[in-house]
Amino acid sequence: MEFKRNIIITGGAGFIGSHVVRLFVRKYPDYRIINVDKLTYAGNLANLADVESMPNYVFVKADVADYEAMLALMRDYHVDGVIHLAAESHVDRSIKDPFTFARTNVMGTLALLQAARVYWESLPERYEGKKFYHISTDEVYGTLPLDGGLFTEETKYDPHSPYSASKASSDHFVRSYHDTYGMPVVVTNCSNNYGPFQFPEKLIPLFINNIRHGRPLPVYGRGENVRDWLYVEDHASAIDLIFHKGRVAETYNIGGFNEWRNIDLIKVLIAAVDRALGNPEGHSLGLITFVTDRPGHDARYAIDSSKLASELGWRPSLQFEEGIERTVRWYLDNQEWMDQVTSGEYQKYYDEMYKGR
Ligand code: NAD
Ligand code: TYD
Repeated sequence: MEFKRNIIITGGAGFIGSHVVRLFVRKYPDYRIINVDKLTYAGNLANLADVESMPNYVFVKADVADYEAMLALMRDYHVDGVIHLAAESHVDRSIKDPFTFARTNVMGTLALLQAARVYWESLPERYEGKKFYHISTDEVYGTLPLDGGLFTEETKYDPHSPYSASKASSDHFVRSYHDTYGMPVVVTNCSNNYGPFQFPEKLIPLFINNIRHGRPLPVYGRGENVRDWLYVEDHASAIDLIFHKGRVAETYNIGGFNEWRNIDLIKVLIAAVDRALGNPEGHSLGLITFVTDRPGHDARYAIDSSKLASELGWRPSLQFEEGIERTVRWYLDNQEWMDQVTSGEYQKYYDEMYKGR
């Protein structure tokens, strides 16, 4: 079958990537979606079990930092679009192991850019009809005071963790490929995501699981840091819109104007889980345990996404309370998924499903 477009989505077996792959595979049956993922501890093909047999879906296990492999994929699949999500994504891990973050986030992005450049420049139409879309984070902007201000697309980069420094570096490389080679790129910086399929090292799934099992909830510092939360499917819908309609060489901030102090969010989460489990009100509040703060812990993130709203008409679809209810329900209903990812069992999924295909 001839496909209208051939799009590589990297990191498609991860949290956000799996929602983006699912959306594109289902919504665009005339696009071939090539999910390129190394399947690190954070990549789980079970996240995509509902689309893996679709005729417009292909999975390739590969490392984005492997330039030759990326170039071969570009050629083999006649790729005309890249949506790049593959990354090491957890701040606490970046503090312990910064090299892995530089390798995947910086060198991996560069290898992918160079492969796209070499392939697209070899074609008669060169960059016409092509797009390289890089998914980044609001953490590259650094931190805001607790009492005000928002990150706009003009905010100066000021990363503080090895994670955000590696993402900032990759963003610069992407923009340099537009300015130097004329590659049609777009970059988005999104706030904290939450929802189904998030690896339980991140605050929301970790705490839902701990509440369920009556385990302590380790709150860094005094729990006064502020994050701006967006339901993952709303991020995926913004990515869809920007991939198709975003202006080349532009940056768009993505967020839902939904700021929460960690400690307040944790109390909402406790109430939702206790309700769902039929526990009396306040039952799990005693699990809150204040622990030593994360080094370099950014005080506050808050995204101004008015450019995306006014230019492309994007709005988040879910109210936070509804998003949290849905998320809590999903993790409680999918204890098997949680047990698999926390035990490492999910790594076998690839061997059983894909080896020899
Ligand atoms: P995740 O850690 O859940 O998933 C990352 C995926 O990338 C995994 O499937 C992993 O196997 C894959 N991967 C890692 N290294 C790879 C490599 N070298 N080659 C190929 N694949 C590799 O991450 P996520 O939370 O879904 O984040 C996805 C992207 O969105 C990242 O670029 C992240 O910086 C960005 N982002 C995340 C958030 C958030 O709140 N989670 C917010 C804004 C932006
Ligand atoms: P996290 O989910 O790791 O996302 P990020 O660091 O990218 O914002 O953390 C969200 C917030 O929750 C952040 O301020 C750190 C805090 N946090 C805790 O207090 N305890 C925890 O165990 C974790 C994982 C995070």
